[in-house]
Amino acid sequence: MCGIVGYIGKNDTKKFLIDGLKELEYRGYDSAGIALLGDDGIETYKAVGKLINLEEKITQNCTNCFETPVGIGHTRWATHGKPTEINAHPHLGAYSFVVHNGIIENYKELKDELISQGIEFLSQTDTEVIVHLFEKFHKITNNTKEAFCKTIEALHGAYAILLITKADKDKIFFAKSGSPMIIGKSQNEIFFASSDAPLIGYASEVIYLEDGEFGEADQNGISFYSNNTTKWNKLQTSKQLAQKNGFRFFMEKEIYEQSEVASDCMLGRIKDNGISFDEISLDFFDDIRDIKICACGTSYHAGLTGSYLLQRLGNIRCEVEIASEFRYKEPILDKNTLFVVISQSGETADTLEALKMAKNSGLKTLAICNVDNSSITRVADVTLLTRAGIEKGVASTKAFTTQTLVLWMLSLYIGKIKNSINNNLLQNELRTLREVPRVLKIDSSIHEKCKRLSKRYLHGHGFFFIGRDVFYPLALEGALKLKEISYLHAEGYPAGEMKHGPIALADPELFTIALMPQNLLYDKIKSNVEELSARDSTICAISPLNFELADDFIKTNLCDHYMLEFFEMLVALQLLSQEISIRLGNDVDMPRNLAKSVTVE
Ligand code: G6P
Repeated sequence: MCGIVGYIGKNDTKKFLIDGLKELEYRGYDSAGIALLGDDGIETYKAVGKLINLEEKITQNCTNCFETPVGIGHTRWATHGKPTEINAHPHLGAYSFVVHNGIIENYKELKDELISQGIEFLSQTDTEVIVHLFEKFHKITNNTKEAFCKTIEALHGAYAILLITKADKDKIFFAKSGSPMIIGKSQNEIFFASSDAPLIGYASEVIYLEDGEFGEADQNGISFYSNNTTKWNKLQTSKQLAQKNGFRFFMEKEIYEQSEVASDCMLGRIKDNGISFDEISLDFFDDIRDIKICACGTSYHAGLTGSYLLQRLGNIRCEVEIASEFRYKEPILDKNTLFVVISQSGETADTLEALKMAKNSGLKTLAICNVDNSSITRVADVTLLTRAGIEKGVASTKAFTTQTLVLWMLSLYIGKIKNSINNNLLQNELRTLREVPRVLKIDSSIHEKCKRLSKRYLHGHGFFFIGRDVFYPLALEGALKLKEISYLHAEGYPAGEMKHGPIALADPELFTIALMPQNLLYDKIKSNVEELSARDSTICAISPLNFELADDFIKTNLCDHYMLEFFEMLVALQLLSQEISIRLGNDVDMPRNLAKSVTVE
């Protein structure tokens, strides 16, 4: 995710940068840095870990800092390269500095070309290519504007970029595509930031840049090099609201962020001929015959979903276990099993201990995790980061989405290297993966529908969420969301299993939330729901196809792949739980008795 800030003006540059980074620390905190540009040259400070380390470093070393009217800063969430000082932003060339949020997808090609032309790279990041490209073009054109335009033209991927250079020392060059960037102004000052929060108290008006906009700024104002839709907006004055970007709860913000983080999660990993994970060596799967997944809570549900995909697309046997159960069952472990743990926080005690057990038994281990440098990532042989950014709401949302996406990509990766997936199927899956961010963009009518429905579902003696295949773990996840934040009794169940006991509970006060995808076992689930309806259970169907027996209906969009339906239904379930919780007057972000990271057994 990463956070970036920039400043041009006559006031305290350092203070704005540090205060701004504090507001953005939620976007990433494995390292941070600032660069200051003044008449006497450029000064830069970087530190690994939380921002407090950078602040201390600046206080110790910057006793005689020169006055600097221009500065940029960055707080990092590692994607390429470990969280080290060298990999921290700003990245430097011979006379320019850059900060960047996003991923440059074609960085390898660009880097190879620059290296072949004699450029030396210091870091392992994708970002460093930007500053070297800029200086290369500047040497050719001797014109900073032209050099910046050519640089932006060469980049593919997602970015919000700020660049400063001694060659044009009053300016900040900026560009946005896919990652957020806001420009603020007050009298004689210009500010840049990844979100509103750093600008409150500083800027009176702001522009929310659109994708494809880029240009330069100095004390006199902003010049766009691209077409632009510049519209200055008044800036809100509440910090709390700004952190939540206007949403009522962090959970709501995180539900709405899912489209963006899904793109981040897939960036650079989907290629024309398959999935690429730079983190995995070519021979990693050579001796692997099956997979065991261990996790807790929502991450366990992602694991269960993944097990269907790994078997179906990866053609590899896969078992999933709750980490706290696995630990004490004296498991028989086989060296040809790949042990996969899934964790948002990377700190969950049961998952961490299960991972250590597998490692001590000599198994290869792989973590799917959201927090780089967390305990789990330090133990696992290989980590695939989910890149969901910090999740504040205790009820996990965007972490689940990205975990599921990584597992889906991993299934295709294994299918390809084991030669068990044909090219037509692979191409169709890759095309579908690329559709996911669009599907996760929330249609206001679905949110409105969930708000209205929430009135009906406050009382009764319980909920059953039912589904089949991957929609069974999705049903488990829907029920867990509702339990966590509404404190209502909810169970997720495989739809075909209802008749073996739970159907005895059916009556009008039993609410059934039925996941009825068009593209997977529709007729089977339809029969299961009909059985419940015949026993007077109140049915809320989530489906793209009309279902006359439903008491309530959330209509999803027609599409051609069950995983697109999966993600659309996931959003509906998250919103429904949230709206029920709000109506009950609960604390959506910090529900009773729960903790975001469970570091005890
Ligand atoms: C806690 C959280 C859940 C989370 C689970 C596993 O119970 O409240 O939202 O799913 O821990 O956490 P992890 O960080 O390992 O994914």
